Amino acid sequence: MVKAVVFDAYGTLFDIGSLAGACAAVTPETQSFCDLWRQKQLEYTFLVTVLGRYRDFWQITSHALSFALKKHDVKIGASEKQRLLESYLTLPSYDHTEPTLQRLEPFRLAILSNGTPAMLGAVVRHNNLTGYFSHVLSADRVRLYKPHPEVYRLAVDALGVQAADVLFISSNSFDVVGAGSFGFRVAWINRSRAPLDELGIRPDHELQSLVDLPALIA
Ligand code: 2OP
Repeated sequence: MVKAVVFDAYGTLFDIGSLAGACAAVTPETQSFCDLWRQKQLEYTFLVTVLGRYRDFWQITSHALSFALKKHDVKIGASEKQRLLESYLTLPSYDHTEPTLQRLEPFRLAILSNGTPAMLGAVVRHNNLTGYFSHVLSADRVRLYKPHPEVYRLAVDALGVQAADVLFISSNSFDVVGAGSFGFRVAWINRSRAPLDELGIRPDHELQSLVDLPALIA
């Protein structure tokens, strides 16, 4: 039985595609710049976790941005870089997020993300979603990043449930693999109809949008 629904944040509840607007202000190669920023951000989380060299997600996001700027030969000042970074604090939620959360209110709802507590607090408040979540959990607590199992364990410890009682919702395929491997039930929000990763760990459900979630749980 599902007792708690736990959401990934970036790309799942909050639209990182919207960073294109801010990126367009610094480069005409908007999409490839944005994609590289995100790719490096995730790559750096994997690297520092494997290497035991944790630094928080704000720093990781900043380092990844520096790489993308260098790669695209974009020269901007510190304040413009700061403005780009701060776009993370005001990302909009995807369409249907709030009505979906309203319909899930009989369940305990939480966020479990690599974001720092400050980043997550800001974006949740910006979208007026604070009241929906009993917990907003950050990987920063264990100084490791998803898909390390200790990060997923934060949710079972905080919520006081078994892994199998959690339905974990993510649009990020590495997170789907990590959460499934940990023992959560997983719903993959596959908005872009991407192929599944080839590690033999499958999500329990695949949806195209958050809007389909309440019907799935009912
Ligand atoms: C998260 O919110 C990285 O998007 C991923 O944890």
